[in-house]
Formats: sequence, structure tokens, C-alpha cells
Amino acid sequence: MIDVQRYSSDQIDATVTVLADAFVTNPLHVSALGPHRLDQNRLFFRIGLRHMFIGQSFVALSDGEVRGYVHFNASPYCLPPPEEIPLAAATLLKPRGEALPQVVKWISRWCRLDPEEPHVHLGPIGVAPAAQGQGVGTALMHRYLDYLKQERAAGYLETDRPENVLFYKRFGFVVQGKEVVIGTPIWYMWRAQEA
Ligand SMILES: CC(C)(COP(=O)(O)OP(=O)(O)OC[C@H]1O[C@@H](n2cnc3c(N)ncnc32)[C@H](O)[C@@H]1OP(=O)(O)O)[C@@H](O)C(=O)NCCC(=O)NCCS
Repeated sequence: MIDVQRYSSDQIDATVTVLADAFVTNPLHVSALGPHRLDQNRLFFRIGLRHMFIGQSFVALSDGEVRGYVHFNASPYCLPPPEEIPLAAATLLKPRGEALPQVVKWISRWCRLDPEEPHVHLGPIGVAPAAQGQGVGTALMHRYLDYLKQERAAGYLETDRPENVLFYKRFGFVVQGKEVVIGTPIWYMWRAQEA
């Protein structure tokens, strides 16, 4: 049984573990933070959960344990203006050390490309590796789709894994662009507002 509920800050430790384990092998995280850098990923998500993922956040629990997490936020404040990134990164992400310039390049690029058209921005979504392929990600996506329906909004996301492109297509997203960011192919995907 998968139970999706609102994220609460007392779940931060379990959620950091889920997200760091889920993303440590993602190509963009490898490019930015280095291969096998669970420590860097843990710190990245701890900072993210405290300061960056400030929209709607949900966790998926099974057997009382956090197995997955999703965050989404409505534009135009879903990402900061690109010119704020270097300062914000230097302050918030200082512990990233040598990874900092790559993280700044990555996040600034995503901020710059954030669509003008109103949307609800998805990300991050991650499921603990041992719990993947069992419907946890789908349950979290349905919570996001419910929100899109309720707000009569379009959806938008960025992804760095070709298999995720297929995953998101199942939920009505289409690829609207692709490019290489810090050495990694990135797909930009859009889901039109439902009629
Ligand atoms: C992407 C992710 C959130 C999907 O969560 P999940 O719990 O594994 O997804 P589900 O079990 O609900 O999968 C739904 C379907 O998509 C398929 N699918 C999901 N992830 C897949 C993957 N990485 N490769 C191939 N198929 C995948 C599943 O096979 C499943 O199909 P089925 O219903 O026919 O069996 C999860 O794989 C993950 O955390 N990945 C690492 C972090 C990441 O890339 N996050 C997204 C960044 S944009």
C-alpha cells in the first residue's frame, strides 16, 4: 500500500536519503557533483529541502517508511531569476566546494529556459532505488496531475534520463526541446493544460 501525504520537515533525514540514493547515478548529478558522490548529493538535497523546494511537497510512504518524494511549484516563482543564482548558490550551496561552478551553470540555464507561459514546474521527483518499478513514482505523479487539474494548469519539467522521457510521456508530457547542459543531454517536457 502506497500512502501519499504532505511532506513534513521532520521527514527530512529519510527524504534526503531517498533523494540522494535515487539521483546519485543521474547523469546531471554525476556531471555536477561527481561520480558516486553520495555525500555531495545528500548535502545538495538537504539544502534543497530546506531552502529551494518551497512549493508543494509530498512523500510516498509504504510500511511507514519514506520511499519517494515529489515537489512542484507554480510559475512565475517556480525558479529564481537567473541573475540571482550565482549569489544564492554562493551562499546556500557553498559546501558544494569545487562542484559550485557546475551547479551554478546548470541551475542558471534551467532558470533562463523556464517557460513564460504559466505552468506548474515539476521536480525533483525521486524514488528509493529498492522501491522503484513498484508504482511509487506513478502515485506521486498522480498527486501532481490532480494539482494540475485543480489549478487548470500546464505542466513543465526537465530530465536527464532517456528512460524518464518515456515515463513522463505516459502522463501526457511531450518533449519540447533537448540540449546539452554541463556535458549532459537534457530533455525539456511540457504538458498542455487539460481542456
Ligand atoms: C523516475 C522515477 C521517479 C520513477 O519512479 P518509479 O517508482 O520507479 O516508477 P513506477 O514504478 O511508478 O513506474 C511506472 C512505469 O514506468 C516504468 N519506469 C519507471 N522508471 C523507469 C526507468 N528508470 N526505466 C524504465 N522504465 C521505467 C516502469 O517500468 C513502470 O512501468 P509498468 O507500470 O509498465 O511496470 C524513479 O525511477 C527514480 O527515482 N529515478 C531516479 C531519479 C530520477 O531520475 N528522477 C526523475 C528526474 S527528472
